[in-house]
Amino acid sequence: MNTKILQVDRVSPDPSAIGEAARVIRTGGLVAFPTETVYGLGADAMKPQAVSRIFAVKGRPPDNPLIIHISRLEELYRIGESLDWRAEELARRFWPGPLTLVVKRSPILPDVTVAGLDTAAVRMPRHEVALRLIEAAGTPIAAPSANKSGRPSPTSAEHVLADLGGEIELILDAGPTDIGVESTVLDISSERAVILRPGGVSREEIEAVIGKVEVHPSALGLLIHGELAPRSPGMKYRHYAPEAKLIVVEGELGKVRSAVQALAECLMKRGLRVGVLGSDGHPYKADVLRDLGPRSNPSEAAKRLFRCFREMDEEGVEVVVAEGWQDESGIGLALMNRLRKASGGAVLDANWLLEELRDSPGRVYTEVIGT
Ligand code: TXA
Ligand code: MG
Repeated sequence: MNTKILQVDRVSPDPSAIGEAARVIRTGGLVAFPTETVYGLGADAMKPQAVSRIFAVKGRPPDNPLIIHISRLEELYRIGESLDWRAEELARRFWPGPLTLVVKRSPILPDVTVAGLDTAAVRMPRHEVALRLIEAAGTPIAAPSANKSGRPSPTSAEHVLADLGGEIELILDAGPTDIGVESTVLDISSERAVILRPGGVSREEIEAVIGKVEVHPSALGLLIHGELAPRSPGMKYRHYAPEAKLIVVEGELGKVRSAVQALAECLMKRGLRVGVLGSDGHPYKADVLRDLGPRSNPSEAAKRLFRCFREMDEEGVEVVVAEGWQDESGIGLALMNRLRKASGGAVLDANWLLEELRDSPGRVYTEVIGT
């Protein structure tokens, strides 16, 4: 299949391009389109066969449900059931925007779209191209991030093409996305409101509207143990990751920087091609260096993160050593979550690492690389 790419203006997209994309959706095809967070891979949410193709093309496990994108509030009330004041207030405050609401679902939705659950995830994206596409298609659009399962989400049309070129009908290219990490997934399908995935809308912003919300333990990005079953099916998979092994070093910033440099040197000395993901322009010595920007600007860091992961792979890096971001406030929670998840749990304490590297670098090497 030849994947067509149409450039569209992000503010006032050409109606004929939108019309062409909408026809692809209506006839059961797949269209990658920009949102304010990341690019999505869209299909008609009401057509089981079209939705099944999303799973096939992404290599996504069938038990991981999709987010349903809408352009008008009435659609929430058609797709969702038993909605209370929280849905109304949250939609009023944050839509269109990077908040996904998990609500009880209506039987009109095909099972495949919601992976057989009795809930559905719904959001109204804040991007002209996405909104006009949904409007023109005349149907809600089911769309996960437009990457191969497990890979970093695409923040540009080039990333989509690299992962899905030749497998989908069309990509609408409106340039790089604004936020760079995905929407916040908030479960309000029961009395307890729980953040299942931190993202573009912060916990503090949500709490200002509906009061205290919980953050699911796995949303902190630490490994889930024992009886703590994941509530969001997506939580149990390694996610957002570069092909390179990723190690995150956490602790006090000065110590983190010493430990990151020491670990990078230890690994390079043993012949590995090492990338360092730093911040503040800190001058690390490594084979490949990328910088998430000033610590004072975590939004900018979030925006750059997935692109940096992909660039590390393009540079042939074998191990990425990344500074941790431990600030749980605002977008910081999402940034921390993505880094830890992408590392698959390889999160090391800076003090511990400095001591180990001093005492037995050989052991650090085997533990870090051998696992
Ligand atoms: O920003 C975003 O949310 C992007 C853009 C394209 O909108 N989409 C996105 O979709 O990130 P995806 O499929 O990559 O992530 C959706 C997440 C998954 O972790 C999934 O498990 C969860 O939402 N989810 C979907 N439906 C759910 C449900 N009914 N209950 C709990 N979690 C659900
Ligand atoms: Mg995804």
